[in-house]
Amino acid sequence: MNLLHILQSRLHAALGGLVSDPSPYSGMVRSSNDPKFGDFQANCAMPLAKELGRPPRDLAADIVARLDVADFCETPEIAGPGFINFRLREDWLATQINAVADDPRLGVAPVTKPRNIIVDFSSPNVAKPMHVGHLRSTVIGDALTKILTHLGHHVLSDNHIGDWGTQFGMIIYGCKHFLTPDAYSADAVGELARLYRLVNNLCDYQLAKVEAPKLQLALTTKQAELAQLEGAVPSDAKEKKEFDKSLKKLRKELEDLRESTNSTTSKIAAIESNAATLSFAQSHLDIVRLSREETAKLHAGDAENRRLWNEFLPKCVAALQTIYTRLSIHFDMTLGESFYDPFLADVVADLKAKGIATESDGAMCVFIEGNAAPFLVQKADGAYNYATTDLATIKYRVDELNAEEILYVVDHRQSEHFDLLFATIDKWGYRSQQGEPLKLSHVKFGTVMGKDGKPFKTRSGDTVGLESLLDEAIAKARQIVAENDDRKTDNDGNPTPELPEAERDAIAEVVGLGGIKYADLKHNRESDYIFDTDKMLAMTGDTATYLQYAYARLCGIFRKGGVDRADFSSQPATIQLTHPAERALALQLLRFEEALTHTAAEAKPNLLTQYLYDLAGHLTTFYEGCPVLKGDDPEVRTSRLHLVNLTGRVIEQGLALLGIGVCEKM
Ligand code: ARG
Repeated sequence: MNLLHILQSRLHAALGGLVSDPSPYSGMVRSSNDPKFGDFQANCAMPLAKELGRPPRDLAADIVARLDVADFCETPEIAGPGFINFRLREDWLATQINAVADDPRLGVAPVTKPRNIIVDFSSPNVAKPMHVGHLRSTVIGDALTKILTHLGHHVLSDNHIGDWGTQFGMIIYGCKHFLTPDAYSADAVGELARLYRLVNNLCDYQLAKVEAPKLQLALTTKQAELAQLEGAVPSDAKEKKEFDKSLKKLRKELEDLRESTNSTTSKIAAIESNAATLSFAQSHLDIVRLSREETAKLHAGDAENRRLWNEFLPKCVAALQTIYTRLSIHFDMTLGESFYDPFLADVVADLKAKGIATESDGAMCVFIEGNAAPFLVQKADGAYNYATTDLATIKYRVDELNAEEILYVVDHRQSEHFDLLFATIDKWGYRSQQGEPLKLSHVKFGTVMGKDGKPFKTRSGDTVGLESLLDEAIAKARQIVAENDDRKTDNDGNPTPELPEAERDAIAEVVGLGGIKYADLKHNRESDYIFDTDKMLAMTGDTATYLQYAYARLCGIFRKGGVDRADFSSQPATIQLTHPAERALALQLLRFEEALTHTAAEAKPNLLTQYLYDLAGHLTTFYEGCPVLKGDDPEVRTSRLHLVNLTGRVIEQGLALLGIGVCEKM
């Protein structure tokens, strides 16, 4: 049940007689911040009164008179300048909460119009170590897949791995020149990653050597330009404004140039500071061109390069799979870039035939109105690229998988690519099999930062490998679980730890992984966030640990009361809402579907974490005001146990939809 939707549709009906299109106004219902103002509040009367030229309180009274909500609300009240306050009826709330408790879906109705949705997420470039950015895509994508599926949509998760890119040319080049066979037999993927890094650094070095003098010159020129400008401050106020603007612009340009120069310098130093790599650099002067050629040969079907690629790829994919297994992430498909290679020529030919792609400097481009950069679908040397592959992927997803909607959970830095991709699809006139325009969205997310406020990296400068992060979080969780258990005492203060070592290990796994995932999910995905294992495992505050602990605690109440939870759950609920804290908790529980629907609509898992965090807050307030086991009225005790049990089920289900587990003891 979606309470907000029910209220909005009733409001819509009431507004129908007052304004020709009520839509902009009927959505203006929110939950109240203060119980004093009821449970929900509509603030549409004020803006509508302005449009109609009527006094707002008058209009509010008119709306209330037309509102048909008596079946579930008290008579709405008008407050302040024209707010309409709704208070749910006690008897209705009690009936609903018992129905939700008796419902295996916890009151979450499946959508009436399921859509075919593909969630494209994780999608790392294989043979390069996977890093925290890919973790973010993986965790958010998995949560969205689970939530949309739970709501009744037909969802396919697809790991669009980068298995056809230039990194393979580098690895093949590295394999032909720098391979250490022993290292390869001991740890093939580790050796491939080393080769990739080595060749990539050597390529960067050669490019930097060419760039460095140019940058140096540009820097000197810019510095002189700035000095000249700084020496010519105008006295006229109007001119001064323009002057300040130019000064600011110039300073920014200089700053950018400095940054590029520094990055070039460090790329050069990385090679020259080491005698071995320097000698490689000197004997592989043409490495950039030659490794590009290896990629081109692979794409053209060269037998040796294909053989190597066929040997490497399964090993790289297996290495990725170990991480997914640890994180319990499932993909319905892993169709990487290479899968689409046979379709690329046709895509470009079709775009060309339809006049959508045109030639420009030998390359095939799609020009999008209002966008300076075109969408390059075939390079001048004939090679296809990321853009071509993504176009072919959409075609395949629609033609073969019947997709109506695709979500791309990808770093915000690829925004321009997706804008151009979606605009090109629009021009291409590509529609779903149902004849509707495709719904394509870039579910973008920000950067994972270190505590120093810079993109998260280890001391060596590498982006942190994922495995070690997971290990670290689990080790910390193990410590927290042990300390917590060691602190447990009986009524006389004697220590009563209850968890054997193996159970502590199992709990640490759930808490550690849950902590990492939750920290990623609870931030608005569009913002950057700081990766901090201590904060993410805190027992209080907005963490998975806090919610998992709330869950374990409620399981503890059942154990203490000698009530078997599974057994109890199978009995019809008999919840009575007498205390305000019970009422508030019940209302929050009734809003589970609303939270899920909102999360799915915005593709923002933080809306669900927020809901669960608030739910746990309501549970705490409830414990403070309402003893569960201690009361002597057996009916009240049973009612409260049902309420606690239902809260536990919603926490468990909510966390599961975020890919996070719970434990009965902690
Ligand atoms: N492999 C890309 C990367 O690591 C992400 C791919 C995202 N999906 C897509 N269909 N473009 O940056």
